[in-house]
Amino acid sequence: MNQSPQQLYLDLLKKALSFALWDEPPVPAEAFSYRRGPLRRKALRLASKALARSRYRLVEERGFSRQQREDGMIWPGQADTMIGRKRLDNLHECIETVLRDGVPGDIIETGVWRGGACILARGVLAAHGDTARRVFVADSFEGLPKPEADKHPADSGDTHHVHKFLAVSQEQVAANFEKYGLLDAQVVFLKGWFKDTLPTAPIDRLAVMRLDGDMYSSTIDALDNLYPKLSSGGFCIIDDYALEGCKKAVTDYREKHGIGDDLITVDWTGAYWRKS
Ligand SMILES: C[S@@+](CC[C@H](N)C(=O)[O-])C[C@H]1O[C@@H](n2cnc3c(N)ncnc32)[C@H](O)[C@@H]1O
Repeated sequence: MNQSPQQLYLDLLKKALSFALWDEPPVPAEAFSYRRGPLRRKALRLASKALARSRYRLVEERGFSRQQREDGMIWPGQADTMIGRKRLDNLHECIETVLRDGVPGDIIETGVWRGGACILARGVLAAHGDTARRVFVADSFEGLPKPEADKHPADSGDTHHVHKFLAVSQEQVAANFEKYGLLDAQVVFLKGWFKDTLPTAPIDRLAVMRLDGDMYSSTIDALDNLYPKLSSGGFCIIDDYALEGCKKAVTDYREKHGIGDDLITVDWTGAYWRKS
């Protein structure tokens, strides 16, 4: 074995965050019950309640393959991140590169869900003994916004906001950081819609910005407010390039600002560029 303790820790952290050490367990039936009709929802609630009295639980078997999980193609029941191994590795590499090259600035993720990618970011800083850079954790902590089609036509018909599964409270995300022993003053929460929080966020400079807000509006709000603060040599990571709205926001922004830095593919949806 010729991996350093640091590499071993970060590998284990990524496996734990993505629940890769264990098989995907069935999810509690209530987790996705908002997708069912009112009658089925009620029946499920009554059945769950009755079973709970005998300390049983109604669960749903979702049958995902190992590959789908590793590639971050599912909404996982237990994992603290849904971004899959290649995108975790990409975030890890980008942070190690800015540390090695001395690129100044903090790290931000816009769209954190259960917080896993931000927890990894904090873990990488900890593993390298960095006590100065902050990890900004930006989210509504109540899911995605309703589309504003007149302002952003690319979002018309977007249904992300109906998915309660994507709404994870700030308390839950903080508890997830705590689980890994990584909640401290270097972790800064920015609670609210990006259009409200990002313009006044207490950020001077960024070294890594990771955008994972799925929609056109969420992506363009993050680019407009944060990209000017990204240091040269810093990384702009896009999680949702496979989604039309997000892709259009990235294309629009890059065209408008004449950004010609190579857009590099991470996996089936992840992409990034390094600011020249
Ligand atoms: C796909 S999830 C993020 C996954 C996460 N990065 C991970 O590691 O698993 C999208 C997140 O973006 C947040 N979000 C999307 N658009 C937003 C906006 N405009 N303002 C605030 N939060 C937003 C949602 O609340 C949700 O937590």
